[in-house]
Amino acid sequence: MSRAEAPDAHSDNRSDDRFGAHPDGPPGTPPAAHPIVRARELVKTHHGEGAPVKAVRGVDLDIERGEFVAVTGPSGAGKSTLLHLLGGLQRPDSGGIWFDGTSLDSYGEAQWAVLRRRRIGIVFQFFNLVSNLTVADNVELPALLAGRGPKRARADRAELLEELGLAGKERSMPGELSGGEQQRVSVARAFVNRPLILLADEPTGNLDSQMARGVMEMLEEINAEGTTIVMVTHDSNIVNQMRRRVIEIENGQIVRDQARGVYG
Ligand SMILES: Nc1ncnc2c1ncn2[C@@H]1O[C@H](COP(=O)(O)OP(=O)(O)O)[C@@H](O)[C@H]1O
Ligand SMILES: [Mg+2]
Repeated sequence: MSRAEAPDAHSDNRSDDRFGAHPDGPPGTPPAAHPIVRARELVKTHHGEGAPVKAVRGVDLDIERGEFVAVTGPSGAGKSTLLHLLGGLQRPDSGGIWFDGTSLDSYGEAQWAVLRRRRIGIVFQFFNLVSNLTVADNVELPALLAGRGPKRARADRAELLEELGLAGKERSMPGELSGGEQQRVSVARAFVNRPLILLADEPTGNLDSQMARGVMEMLEEINAEGTTIVMVTHDSNIVNQMRRRVIEIENGQIVRDQARGVYG
């Protein structure tokens, strides 16, 4: 990976370390009472080929550390758009987002990129793997960009791929894998830097039920170790087995938010 391909690699220092365990003071200070993510009055319009689409229409949301939130709702409701706003992949027309108590209103692309590299993992609905890199490199790259040594990056990658049933696929290119395999690679990539929060867009959407269970078990393990998870899913079986917080989106708005919810 050359500097030209990673234009902000040189600025990838620990400048965002206030988003750690002690955001408000020296070590020993109790964790702050901020939600890990706060959104207020988020509005987002897509300007595509046709008429503008108001995909998110005034969303207020607090997500606390350690939560495992399922975001449900019909296709086209605005779930992916909301997730993209929370990950800084799209910018709202209006409204604000706070991460661990810090407003991100003034964050530019580079600051968001550093935040994503260190603190926010994203599993995309359509994987977004780098097609001309091997499976191993797709997973190791974020670790290397975050400053991990090559040995450690390799070891972490090997462990994650093994856990996700992908041992032996390290040298494959993404295009040689099934949808389900690519999805699991994208879970490994999103988690390799142990983010504070994982945003996952239908992470089991392309998996058969056994594989889906495997990915869910892994997400639950990650969550039990402290990573907050926000997962978009259509799958009522999964939601109803989880019995965790369920947020339902319809027409760009939260229509239901239940602590130990069910869906469908
Ligand atoms: N890039 C885009 N350009 C134009 N319209 C979009 C774009 N992305 C999403 N939309 C529209 O915004 C609405 C919400 O989409 P999305 O957030 O993907 O919903 P969901 O994930 O719940 O299916 C839909 O009507 C969709 O067609
Ligand atoms: Mg979607």
